[in-house]
Amino acid sequence: MLRACVIGWPVEHSRSPLIHGYWLAKHGIDGAYEKEAVRPEDLAEFLQTLGERGYVGANVTLPHKEAALRAARSVDAAAIAMGAANTLWLDPEGTLHAANTDAYGFMTNLDAEAPQWNEETGAVLVLGAGGAARAILYGLIAAGVPKILLANRTSARTSSLAKRFGPQVEAIDWDARDAALAGCSLLVNTTSLGMTGQPPLEIDLAPLPADAVVNDIVYVPLETALLKSARDRGNVAVDGLGMLLHQARLGFMSWFGGEPVVSDALRHFVLGG
Ligand code: ATR
Repeated sequence: MLRACVIGWPVEHSRSPLIHGYWLAKHGIDGAYEKEAVRPEDLAEFLQTLGERGYVGANVTLPHKEAALRAARSVDAAAIAMGAANTLWLDPEGTLHAANTDAYGFMTNLDAEAPQWNEETGAVLVLGAGGAARAILYGLIAAGVPKILLANRTSARTSSLAKRFGPQVEAIDWDARDAALAGCSLLVNTTSLGMTGQPPLEIDLAPLPADAVVNDIVYVPLETALLKSARDRGNVAVDGLGMLLHQARLGFMSWFGGEPVVSDALRHFVLGG
């Protein structure tokens, strides 16, 4: 039996077991996907013995994404650029490989949900400067977006990301976010604002062009106030669940094989679980 797991501290909240469990059953694969709660001080030893523990690979979630990158012998370009890995696998020689599939997940979902969006039609406004923002900046730049405006409450984080990701990224003031919407073809919220239990995201979408896309990476609730106001004024609204589902595909393929599909049935299954 092929076994993989998600490693976190805490790990209880992870939806990855639902996603991979759904695909394992759907593809009739003799495999298992488990949760492993691993303390930060135990991570290095856990990863060194991943194969002995019977695993072919793992997802890594908070707070282990940076340490997982350091533990791997080979790392993909996305994980290097983001400074964090979320997917690990062992090759037949036992070498640990690391990747970051969040940018792939974001871009693939955007492409599926807003195929009309085109990286050349205007600037993109990204709100937030945490780990999710890094993945999205990497994905947008790799796709060829010429101009990304980046706004975050703590401005030191925007300038450091702008420096890290290069001239396409322009740091702007958090208070300039409404005005910056004019001429944007895409707005992405990567902050935790709007998530259940968090304050709402305050933004006035009035300057946003009518054909722009609004993508919130928050998925609890699935329809945030931001997505509702975007839909109400006719903008295409893309929710955060799709990024989570699409990012899982690459791990599944490397551990278990097959071509897992992100379907409505999977969305409903994960939301109900
Ligand atoms: P992740 O790695 O999941 O993106 P994170 O690093 O905790 O998470 O980032 C959360 C983001 O939400 C940050 O951009 C944070 O802004 P700061 O860098 O200023 O902390 C943003 N955020 C959280 N609460 C906020 C609030 N009340 N107002 C504005 N931004 C907020």
